[in-house]
Amino acid sequence: MKENKCVVLGVTGGIAVYKALDIASSLRKKDIDVRVIMTKSATEFVAPLTFQAISQNLVTTDMFQEPKAWEIQHISLAQRADVFLVAPATANIIGKVANGIADDMLSTTIMATNAKVIFAPAMNTGMYNNRIVQGNLEKLKKLGYEFIEPDSGRLACGDVGKGKLPAPEIIVEKVMSELYDKKDLINKKVIVSAGPTRTDIDPVRFLTNRSTGKMGYEIAKEARDRGAEVILVSGPTNEKKPYGIDVIDVKTNEEMLNAIINHYDDADIVVKAAAVADYKAKEVSSQKIKKGDGDLSLDFVRDNDILMLLGKKKKNQILVGFAAESQNVIENAKGKLDRKNLDYIVANDITSKDTGFGSQDNRVSIISKNGDITTLEKMNKKEVARNLFDMIMEKR
Ligand SMILES: Cc1cc2nc3c(=O)[nH]c(=O)nc-3n(C[C@H](O)[C@H](O)[C@H](O)COP(=O)(O)O)c2cc1C
Repeated sequence: MKENKCVVLGVTGGIAVYKALDIASSLRKKDIDVRVIMTKSATEFVAPLTFQAISQNLVTTDMFQEPKAWEIQHISLAQRADVFLVAPATANIIGKVANGIADDMLSTTIMATNAKVIFAPAMNTGMYNNRIVQGNLEKLKKLGYEFIEPDSGRLACGDVGKGKLPAPEIIVEKVMSELYDKKDLINKKVIVSAGPTRTDIDPVRFLTNRSTGKMGYEIAKEARDRGAEVILVSGPTNEKKPYGIDVIDVKTNEEMLNAIINHYDDADIVVKAAAVADYKAKEVSSQKIKKGDGDLSLDFVRDNDILMLLGKKKKNQILVGFAAESQNVIENAKGKLDRKNLDYIVANDITSKDTGFGSQDNRVSIISKNGDITTLEKMNKKEVARNLFDMIMEKR
């Protein structure tokens, strides 16, 4: 049986220790084997028992603690780690590792591991900006240690500034991305468009569509997890900003086109999952349109066909479109693929009640330019994204 992935979670003595409990819990729920090492200071904030109960593993706090395993524990944890996360990371642990100090279980195990070490620093702004701390961060970055940048905001001590531990889900997203097995998009640049666009009618009204952006966001995250540099051009959505992805927020068709074109020439793969408005109001009223007694008619004119323009400009990029169809799904999608010079088109039937817009799931067929049609069973959008990149990378 395949062994679960292991994250060694180093917990140091900062006020944000309580957030590390959520991190441990989320990782456990994803079937990760979580091994916690706490510094002595960390145990002043939260008892090891809490981490023990959440991780369902013994928590190590002391290098010389009994019972001693037949293996030397700091070596075995160092070897067992697939990813080594230190969250929260104090100024102290950063300083110790940067200067080769190994005087407790955590610093010694970090010194012994070959796994990727990710620090999530959290401290008072004054401490964070201290030149010694900044120097230590720079030194460790140069040596290949990774960092999750602290957030800015009001800190526990009352100061306002940089130094807050980011939300646990952001940290977990980063760790899960590191643990992802397929890294076949390293050194590739991927542009993804997602969500709807809007067309304004007057200062208070606009027209849009039912796209939630979920499919596009999953595609962007899949590309990131596989190692790509990802630019996500996003229409207005409620999706959370994903970790490690450059998100360009746009509203209109025109803004979406410009954002993609700016990065198109050096892109390797472009996936257009956005639901772009085909028409825009002929005139946008500068004043609110007042209600009258009669009906209201508005004129709309054709807006840019972004996919068509990208197809015409295409050089070596792999261009993938989406076709949301309500009838003759495959036939219409194939027509779009040919007309717009695409390499793949992902066709989905939007009349299905349990998939598509707003749903976690999708049921799609992926059609390639050589005519191959792969029809996938109903699956969640993350799995659709994985299948899409599997297909692109296999057939390259
Ligand atoms: C209430 C309290 C809160 C603290 N919060 C932080 C913090 O957020 N970040 C930090 O770097 N140090 C913080 N410290 C200081 C560390 O606990 C101290 O530097 C300690 O030596 C760190 O040890 P460790 O790195 O071995 O856990 C705090 C201390 C106290 C008493």
